[in-house]
Amino acid sequence: MTPDAGWFDAMPTQGPLVDTFGRVHSDLRLSVTDRCNLRCSYCMPEEGVRFRPRDEILSFEELTVVARVAKSLGVTSVRLTGGEPLVRKGIVDLLSQVAEIGFADLALTTNGTELGRLANGLAGAGLNRVNVSCDSLRPERFAQIRRRGELGVVLDAMDAAEGAGLRPVKVNVVLIAGLNDDEVLDFAAFSRATGRPVRFIEYMPLDADGLWRRELVVAGRDVLARISSRWPLEPVPAGADAAPAERYRFTDGHGEVGVVTSVTRPFCRTCNRLRITADGALRNCLFSDDEPSVRDVLRGGGSDEDVAVMLRRAVWGKRPGHGIDDPDFLRPRRSMSMIGG
Ligand code: GTP
Ligand code: 5AD
Ligand code: SF4
Repeated sequence: MTPDAGWFDAMPTQGPLVDTFGRVHSDLRLSVTDRCNLRCSYCMPEEGVRFRPRDEILSFEELTVVARVAKSLGVTSVRLTGGEPLVRKGIVDLLSQVAEIGFADLALTTNGTELGRLANGLAGAGLNRVNVSCDSLRPERFAQIRRRGELGVVLDAMDAAEGAGLRPVKVNVVLIAGLNDDEVLDFAAFSRATGRPVRFIEYMPLDADGLWRRELVVAGRDVLARISSRWPLEPVPAGADAAPAERYRFTDGHGEVGVVTSVTRPFCRTCNRLRITADGALRNCLFSDDEPSVRDVLRGGGSDEDVAVMLRRAVWGKRPGHGIDDPDFLRPRRSMSMIGG
């Protein structure tokens, strides 16, 4: 849905990136590639993936222009995502360039397969922390869900990241009913043993195979009930930048768990995120198909000011929520690896 004519008349031309609901946007997620070396079943198809040609992907210079302009509009935290960001050649150089712009928080979401090799370089380039996806602690099941890659490599990479100072290492677990939801307590125990925050993520209708069904979603509240009946939990007060995860720590001080309840309890009302896809499309929501191209503007000779206006308009045009429960909800055309997690 495109906003009506006249919608943008009241858009501020100065100050922070604010939308019509008063949400201030301070978090930018830059997808640096649509490529990935895994094929997680909740994200990509197993075969026949078509990646964008190289020249359609934003260059490092273009990415840094977007980050620089975003900073001038009040963005304070940046996350690099993919696909898998660490398969992009020169990623450490890109990180240095983004880090130089100076953000309070510079993070990266990764599948962990290349992280062990790159952790020291990334930390040296100015990365603050990483979130690592890991959906099973059983090697065979890990291979079944992710279709490629090895659990041991990802677990070793978490150690390497911590050793390099990339802390905290947060662990992302997408739960799918009947597939890995019997591992909730194992993951809670893993957090207690390692101190790493483990976040249980509700499965969203963003898988390339189109297999998502409501019955496959494991509600965050059920996850918390199961964990707290084994080990007591207490809420961790939300910081100023309400992250999507609702956080809880174990009352005995060992470890932390969180739930990302995108489906059963959406957090759209406090959303402060803006994202850019690897091919340079601005998205104001994971679920919005309205995608103005920053790449086209930049390659057409657009100035920083032109990019700033695009960012302002993208935020001003944001809808109140994703509407997964609305009868007229349509799955986005692109799946998670193409949008950026
Ligand atoms: P931090 O807690 O600050 O580390 O950030 P984060 O939780 O946003 O980072 P991460 O990239 O690890 O995201 C965790 C999960 O939250 C993702 O895998 C998505 O499933 C979900 N998620 C991230 N951004 C959004 C969003 O804008 N909307 C919704 N509905 N879900 C999101
Ligand atoms: N639902 C929820 N989370 C997803 N991710 C990928 N696909 C989905 C989906 N369909 C998550 C990954 C990772 C991030 C990149 O996005 O687990 O944490
Ligand atoms: Fe790759 Fe991440 Fe998608 Fe898995 S979730 S296929 S690791 S982009």
